[in-house]
Amino acid sequence: MDLLPDAYRKMDPEEIRSGIRKRKEELGKRLVILGHHYQRQEVIDFADHLGDSLGLSRLAAAQEDCEFIVFCGVRFMAESAEILRRDHQKVQHPDPKSGCPLADMADIASVQRAWDRVAGADPGGKVIPLTYMNSDSDLKAFCGEREGAVCTSSNTRAAFEWAREKADKIFFFPDENLGRNTARQAGIPQEEILLWDPEVSPTDPDIESRIREATLILWKGFCHVHTDFQPDHIRRIREEDPSAKVVVHPECSVEVVEAADAAGSTEYICRYVREAPSGSSVYIGTEINLVSRLASEHPDKKIFEVFRSLCPNMFRIDPAKLLWILDEIGEVNRVHVDPGTKELAKVALERMLKFS
Ligand code: 13P
Ligand code: SF4
Repeated sequence: MDLLPDAYRKMDPEEIRSGIRKRKEELGKRLVILGHHYQRQEVIDFADHLGDSLGLSRLAAAQEDCEFIVFCGVRFMAESAEILRRDHQKVQHPDPKSGCPLADMADIASVQRAWDRVAGADPGGKVIPLTYMNSDSDLKAFCGEREGAVCTSSNTRAAFEWAREKADKIFFFPDENLGRNTARQAGIPQEEILLWDPEVSPTDPDIESRIREATLILWKGFCHVHTDFQPDHIRRIREEDPSAKVVVHPECSVEVVEAADAAGSTEYICRYVREAPSGSSVYIGTEINLVSRLASEHPDKKIFEVFRSLCPNMFRIDPAKLLWILDEIGEVNRVHVDPGTKELAKVALERMLKFS
């Protein structure tokens, strides 16, 4: 991994901004910058396209002509772009240390161990593995190899429905909350959900019978940015502003999603705010950079955070790192996924793009 040279750290903000504008002009159509909704505004100012995880993976797959894709988001998103890119393209990530703690909660060895128990508990039955986009590429490959797929917060319900037509059980990792919120939408009863805790479940003497009774097995993982939101925050908002609407991301707990008026992906949240009547109040339960941007884009509405919660990994990317990548286009911090993993992960991602 290459580290940001000191010269870039010392530059003043205006020099950085004009440097980025100049490099973008020079590279023209050879370059596409993709930015996730949680990126800070100073980065989004230079993004050619902005989106949620699903939208950005579609955009990455749709780029035919450009030579360079610079991905401003966390690592699993940049890796998905690398998996979906054309042969002549190069994908670069301004900060490869920008990971996702939720994605890190499931590693291939622990998932493989869990899978052996889950698939082995009922040899006559069929299990489909589904991984949230917020996961390492080897887990996407794991799903690709076993008739499974990837999903994002925009299409987890569609993924569950797709998998339920093909199998008796779904094994979903690594976000428990997204799994539980989607199960509620899809009408999967709580009693049919088994929580797989990689620390505890392997030694549970009753695990085989529990697996047989379950139709949905969820990995015990969570996003620390979204589990900061509490039902009490929403209760207080309702007391103070009874006409306000509350919209949250489905990585929040079931209790928070139940207390809100609506829940959906970051793109869904943007749409919700766009469609809210002028003059209305909307409280948002997701990452603060997106909330602040929506507030400044909609001055005719009162947009607030449910609680201030920042994703420190998304925040690692800044204009200085972006300029450095553009100066070293095609060279530094190229995203790498090994070819065997890539091929199988692509199968799982393409299945997702089909059922979305
Ligand atoms: P979206 O797919 O909704 O953009 O979510 C990505 C994410 O990391 C949420 O924490
Ligand atoms: Fe990962 Fe949560 Fe940050 Fe999304 S908000 S990238 S799930 S840590």
